[in-house]
Amino acid sequence: MTSTTPTRATEDPAIAPAVAQALATVRRNAVTFAGSYPDDTTRAGRYPLRPAGDGFGVGANRGWTTSFVPGAQWVAWELSGDDGMRDAALAHARDFARRVREGDDLETHDLGFLYSLSCVAPWRLLDDEDARSAAILAADHLMRRLLEPAGIIQAWGDLSDPQQRGRTIIDSLMNMPLLTWAAEQTGDDRYADAVRRHTAQLRDHILRPDGSTFHTFYWDTETGAALRGATEQGAHDDSCWARGQAWGIYGFALNHRALPDAGLLEASRRCADYFLDRLPEDGVPFWDLVYTDGSDAPRDSSAAAIAVCGLFELAGLETDAARAARYTEAADGILTSLITLYAPGQSDESDALILHGVYDLPKGVGVDEGTLWGDYFYLEALARRTAGPSWRPVW
Ligand code: GLY
Repeated sequence: MTSTTPTRATEDPAIAPAVAQALATVRRNAVTFAGSYPDDTTRAGRYPLRPAGDGFGVGANRGWTTSFVPGAQWVAWELSGDDGMRDAALAHARDFARRVREGDDLETHDLGFLYSLSCVAPWRLLDDEDARSAAILAADHLMRRLLEPAGIIQAWGDLSDPQQRGRTIIDSLMNMPLLTWAAEQTGDDRYADAVRRHTAQLRDHILRPDGSTFHTFYWDTETGAALRGATEQGAHDDSCWARGQAWGIYGFALNHRALPDAGLLEASRRCADYFLDRLPEDGVPFWDLVYTDGSDAPRDSSAAAIAVCGLFELAGLETDAARAARYTEAADGILTSLITLYAPGQSDESDALILHGVYDLPKGVGVDEGTLWGDYFYLEALARRTAGPSWRPVW
């Protein structure tokens, strides 16, 4: 990579049509799914309704991905000023407030993804008090997952589940901004302290010496000792799951911005350097970074979209100008590839914003499909590129 000045949105004729096409799809999906939620991923290019199960009906607000729907609508409103997007997102905020108050499917660290996008966003954009109180309630639920003496937030499952006890995952970095926001809102340092301790544990253990990351890591819940890394969605325990590495770039950078902690900045840089060194020609990673150019393994476009947002964030925090230019240039290049090679040719060809994502290849779930989170981060990346460094993400 060189350190030439990257092309910015205003000079790039590809951006405006890409934004227009993405907005058309978000608008169409808001009509298709009004009052209900699509599934995590497309099936043959179309999102089905979220299936029924675990006591929930078809299209219900459950799981970790439903907030990417209002998240994309808030970004669409910011980009277009279309009040239909604001109203659709506000209706979702009401349903997320109901979800947390009724205690529906809250046994997860993903409360950060869920409530930053659905409820912190309307508080930030519209001073919506109902959304604010729901987001603080969600932050309180998340705090119940803080395990002592390890000082980590358990990722999945009931806290008494022996399979999940003491386990956290790299994605959890993206759930910390809800706690950072709750600390700012309430003045209660317990939230910020949890962020400090959890992120330090990930910095020291989930990041490997070579800059790659484990997907998940276990701690001893009695002694607090760090035990071992393992994968759940990657190729094998010692491989580097591409989306996890992208969560690392973005998550370490966001938590550095909040704390700040030079070790977290360095962790984000190391995740970025490892990720960028393993990209194939078109800049969109294979689903696991053990695969490189020449492989016919599926790509994960969602990892690319997350990495673009993370690289833009990292570039904005960089203390080294050459690195900042390099990360911005890399983000611009990956985003251009997503626009030209991974977005559907026509906005009605698929109701995903980008094609060719992977949810969970080892379990055969959502392979070579659009994903709700890939769509959200693609739109966030377009917003960052359109508005430039002054654009403020919800995280
Ligand atoms: N946070 C879950 C995933 O990235 O699949």
